[in-house]
Amino acid sequence: MTLFDLTGRIALVTGSSRGIGNAIAAGLGRAGATIVLNGVDKARLEAARETLQQELGPGKVLASAFDVTDAAQVEAAIGDIESSHGPIAILVNNAGIQRRVPLLDLAPEDWDLVLATNLTSAFLVGREAARYMTARGHGKIINICSIQAELARPTIGAYTASKGGLRNLTRAMTAEWATSGIQINAIAPGYIHTQMTQPLVDDEAFNSWVLGRTPADRWGTPEDLIGPAVWLASDASNYVNGQTVFIDGGMSVVV
Ligand SMILES: NC(=O)c1ccc[n+]([C@@H]2O[C@H](COP(=O)([O-])OP(=O)(O)OC[C@H]3O[C@@H](n4cnc5c(N)ncnc54)[C@H](O)[C@@H]3O)[C@@H](O)[C@H]2O)c1
Repeated sequence: MTLFDLTGRIALVTGSSRGIGNAIAAGLGRAGATIVLNGVDKARLEAARETLQQELGPGKVLASAFDVTDAAQVEAAIGDIESSHGPIAILVNNAGIQRRVPLLDLAPEDWDLVLATNLTSAFLVGREAARYMTARGHGKIINICSIQAELARPTIGAYTASKGGLRNLTRAMTAEWATSGIQINAIAPGYIHTQMTQPLVDDEAFNSWVLGRTPADRWGTPEDLIGPAVWLASDASNYVNGQTVFIDGGMSVVV
């Protein structure tokens, strides 16, 4: 399907040495893209690069270690990818963290860290990538939000605020950059079984709550997000601007 073909395009996926980012990177690679994996742990990043390269082939998987919350590192890394490997056609802002603490007990440092990792990072990485994309007149940015971009739950206030902010940042980027031929959209996953959510899967009461609240009657898998990501990274979404697509087994449409 040429509409979904990503051959010849470079895709940077942040926080992609495991979990959702790793699955999306693999999916974009299978659709033809050359992948740049990112993370802060160099050993884990290199292991992930080698694993994915075994599937996609030599030269198809690169690695760029940088902290998405550090403006100087971000600027240097994006510049290096552009000059050493070629134009970044697709950026997936996926890196994120969670802190499960009631708001009354949440330390300001933890609030700042969640906001920096989940929201400010997308501004920093998105802005550097967009400097090149706007000049070229095309590009795709996908921000990984969450069902918490729309709905709240106790103990995850900073996360909820960050993902709501990321949804609106998707709109703000659209307001400024869509005119330059860039499509910026968001994917909002529901409850996906990854290392981040393993403690919730292991918690019988929480697991039952997720299953009871999800019309699809199961946790999502990282692979469930590949199709939407390939769509939003490809020419198949060239007139889709500023949208947040909920991939949640129907959780957000029922009470
Ligand atoms: N798992 C879910 O149910 C779920 C649901 C909705 C949204 N999400 C979002 O999907 C994204 C990925 O989540 P996941 O479940 O795969 O979690 P994960 O913890 O497995 O992956 C997150 C990745 O981000 C990386 N990262 C963290 N801080 C970083 C930094 N400063 N610089 C670079 N990389 C950094 C981590 O090292 C890790 O590899 C997150 O944004 C998360 O909020 C997850």
